[in-house]
Amino acid sequence: MSKSRGQWGSKVGFILAASGSAIGLGNIVFFSANAYKFGGGAFYLPYLIALFVIGIPVMILEFGLGHQTRRAFPESMHKAAGKPGEFVGWWALMNACFIVFYYITILGWVLGMLIGAFGQLWQETTPLKGFAMDELANPHGYFFSMLSSWKPMIFVAIVWILNAILVRRGVATIEAAVKVFVPLMWIFMIVLIVRGITLENGFQGVWLLFTPNFEVMKDAAVWQGAFSQIFFTLSLGFGVMTAYASYLPKDSDQTSNALLTSLMNCGFEYIAGLAIFSILFAFAMVPAASTLSMMFFIVPTGISQMPGGDPMVMAFGLLFFLLLLLAGLSSSVSLVEGLASSLIDKFRISRAKAVGLFCIFGFVGSAMFTLPQVVNPGLENDGTLGLTLLDLVDHWAFSYGLLIVGLLECLLIGWAFGAKRLRAGVNSSSRFNLGSWYDWLIKLIIPALILYVLIVGIKGEFAGLYGSDYGPNYKDGFSWMVNSPQFILVGWFVLTVGASLIFTLRGKYSEGSQ
Ligand code: TRP
Repeated sequence: MSKSRGQWGSKVGFILAASGSAIGLGNIVFFSANAYKFGGGAFYLPYLIALFVIGIPVMILEFGLGHQTRRAFPESMHKAAGKPGEFVGWWALMNACFIVFYYITILGWVLGMLIGAFGQLWQETTPLKGFAMDELANPHGYFFSMLSSWKPMIFVAIVWILNAILVRRGVATIEAAVKVFVPLMWIFMIVLIVRGITLENGFQGVWLLFTPNFEVMKDAAVWQGAFSQIFFTLSLGFGVMTAYASYLPKDSDQTSNALLTSLMNCGFEYIAGLAIFSILFAFAMVPAASTLSMMFFIVPTGISQMPGGDPMVMAFGLLFFLLLLLAGLSSSVSLVEGLASSLIDKFRISRAKAVGLFCIFGFVGSAMFTLPQVVNPGLENDGTLGLTLLDLVDHWAFSYGLLIVGLLECLLIGWAFGAKRLRAGVNSSSRFNLGSWYDWLIKLIIPALILYVLIVGIKGEFAGLYGSDYGPNYKDGFSWMVNSPQFILVGWFVLTVGASLIFTLRGKYSEGSQ
């Protein structure tokens, strides 16, 4: 199999692809929404601790694994820790599938907003029934009338087709795309931050992100939020970084690659946070704790207030949504690639078949989250059935799934494969030598931290399962799905575990993988 594996054309290509995977919607909007939700400036300490204690070491692990085994995640975990390892590898990808399904739904909405930003978005005034409009609220109307129509299904299909095109020849096409996308993302972001902080009062927003509050740090939910955000934003626990690193030449330096990718990602995230907070501050707007309202009305509403008249509003609106689309695409392709290459290696199917099948399957998954039935006419939180489903799935796949993968991969690599062995391999081609402290981070400290937030989180679920308070009184169509929150939890669990078991037990790797 190894003969047919691709390789990055250059080190820059790899760094661009890895940072393209890392930099996504997570950096631009989820971070600001989470930071606000967990107390603004209070978030940056847990966040930075999570970055240095968990994020960078796990990134080294995922890169190191791919580089040493030269295989996508399930097979490399198989080589490192046998069948249990392989199962965890597939489970990571299956959980990430759930994430990519709704991630692409969100990208479909972004595409709709991008089209709207040419004009209609700024004019739309018809509020949806029951939704109180005020004069600042123009983008609400546009977003909700789109959301409660079938149009997003078409947008979602387009985004899946774009994904298929971008990975059709594996790393070669991905590399070509990220060489354009990633520099553009940085340019757009720099334009946004310069505009944000030079707005009158804009600079005040900067303080909001940096005023610490030690009280909230006592709350385990803040730590769960910070840990999940770090996994998500760095694309860890998705099984994608290992696949990307497997296409590197033997002598590449994984410690520097991990440091560079992580710091660029988090640098971008902070710049984005500052840009968004400064725009919100300048227009005296209250940031939203909900990611989607941040992305689809709060920021657009801020943009609609930009000085310079219609052309400026339109230009910044287009720039913002194009930025989201490019950032999101360069992330989603990493999963399509990570999963396709895993299927190709194990089941020896052609790339066209793997990518094609997955994209069709993915379209069906993403389409679920576009279901436009209005279940909550007030639309304060989750107006449509699709959006409600999205919120429930996100809760399990994002706040639990990624952390569970992180916990299991650290334990398996730390104890079954041997953290020392992994470190020796990483050190053999790195300028900077990791000391034995690294072994203890992987074997003990990171698993203990993750386990702690997971246990506290699960205890909270026993007190009241997430979603129990939705109680939509809507009875038609598919709304039974959200009438019982257990349904989503069990569905996510059974589907991910079932598919991973099938993939682990069927098929066989070629040439003595173990
Ligand atoms: N890191 C990305 C972000 O911050 C998220 C991401 C990475 C992702 N890989 C992915 C999402 C694959 C879905 C599928 O937005």
